[in-house]
Amino acid sequence: MKNFLNLKDIPIRDLKKILVDAKRRKRLRKKLNNLDIDKGAPLKGKLLIQMFEKSSLRTRLSFYLAIKQLGGSTLTLRPDELHLSKGGESIQDTAKILSNFGNAFMLRTANDKKLEEFKKYLSIPIINGLSPSSHPTQILSDIFTVEEIKKKPISSLNITWIGDSNNVLNSLIAASIKFSFKLSIGCPTEYKPSKKMIKYIRSNNSKIHILHDPKKAAKGADVIFSDKVISMNDKVNKLKKLNKFKKFKINEKLMSFAKKDCIFLHCLPRGKEVEENIFLSKKSKVWQQALNRVHVQKSILLYCFGKLR
Ligand code: CP
Ligand code: NVA
Repeated sequence: MKNFLNLKDIPIRDLKKILVDAKRRKRLRKKLNNLDIDKGAPLKGKLLIQMFEKSSLRTRLSFYLAIKQLGGSTLTLRPDELHLSKGGESIQDTAKILSNFGNAFMLRTANDKKLEEFKKYLSIPIINGLSPSSHPTQILSDIFTVEEIKKKPISSLNITWIGDSNNVLNSLIAASIKFSFKLSIGCPTEYKPSKKMIKYIRSNNSKIHILHDPKKAAKGADVIFSDKVISMNDKVNKLKKLNKFKKFKINEKLMSFAKKDCIFLHCLPRGKEVEENIFLSKKSKVWQQALNRVHVQKSILLYCFGKLR
């Protein structure tokens, strides 16, 4: 049994194995419908319990399909309906019940410590479905999308992030260190990665550059990533923050500094950080990116269940 909490704690060998498995599974079910089950139904009889303390569309749907396609099933709990949310039951006791009734637990939370607490008391795998500090299932899936489209290992590509220093970027930073790819981060000075992240970057002798001029960050990029300037639960002066990001908006001019065949990726949902004509252009691969989460999360589930071949 394995947990999937943060990319930085998972051996690169395992991350690569997940990607290889996802590629194979995606190819093998080209002609199948969404609810058709993969040959061998490797997670037959298994129940994934998921809980979202924050909104979700893609993560919810993609985990639902992921476990279904492996022969298992999912149950989504509403946090406001559990005793836990009102302080009426401890994480320890909740975790015991989840472990007895289910086979894996996926949690999207507004509190990183909660993932650690659940991990302590669960005897089934726990998956991080987004926390304030990371979004590992998203980024592993995005690496899959990049390699699928570019037909090259990500380590040979120039990856750019233009946007806020948030959970998604933190996971992209961890991925850059693990997979050894060049990552240029374009953000306003006030919104650079946290001290903790900068320490992590420096102590890993990485290929990461933090730039405060969006054109410099976009220069020579094979892929430009962005995300909302204001994340869920981001308690900031929104107008002030949005103003600071005005010149970091992804538009045709900014894309022109990247390579001709540069693609645009965004985990979604979007805000105003990208112009409509880029978001809806051929360069934008956001729908393919969203769908690939099903494929990669299937292999993440198999990894957690110790069933990755
Ligand atoms: N990208 C992503 O995690 O989307 P949801 O918030 O809709 O799950
Ligand atoms: N950074 C965003 C990602 C949403 C999928 C947020 O945390 O709201």
